[in-house]
Amino acid sequence: MSLLPILTFPDPALRQDTEKVTTFDGTLDTLIIDMTETMYEAPGVGLAAPQIGQSIALIVVDISGEDDEEKKAMVMINPEITAKEGKQVDEEGCLSVLDLTASVKRSKKVTVSYQDVNGTEQEMTVEDRFAVVLQHEIDHLHGILFIDYLSTLKRALYKKKIKKQLNKRKQSPPKTKERHDN
Ligand code: NI
Repeated sequence: MSLLPILTFPDPALRQDTEKVTTFDGTLDTLIIDMTETMYEAPGVGLAAPQIGQSIALIVVDISGEDDEEKKAMVMINPEITAKEGKQVDEEGCLSVLDLTASVKRSKKVTVSYQDVNGTEQEMTVEDRFAVVLQHEIDHLHGILFIDYLSTLKRALYKKKIKKQLNKRKQSPPKTKERHDN
């Protein structure tokens, strides 16, 4: 198992449409294990393959609370929303969008068809927070980030803030400390 680096906005890899997974083999299993471990370590409730630089339709989610002793990670391969109903507004954040949370309007209830780790077709209908997480993660597979739903002004302010941070980093690269302690 190994932890994978998580890409952050404005990395262009987060903006790509993903390829469908067609091969269900050991390489995929390893990637799923690494993604799950990376999600728990972050910590996050979901992680999509583009966030770790893999442009494939794969997500892992776990919305069981922090207090739950038994973690229940779910893997969805080639997930697609086939039905949606109602509306809800919830606070969202993203491991790839640093230092920002915002209210986003989404469907209250969604039905998702997907394949499990064995490639078997599955279908699931979820609502509330689980529905939010799935909509958020499936968006990642189409290059969509939750900031895309914010007002133009809010988005512009966030982009400006990130640009500033990146410029700062460029101007003053981290200095290697001189060590005097042998
Ligand atoms: Ni995200």
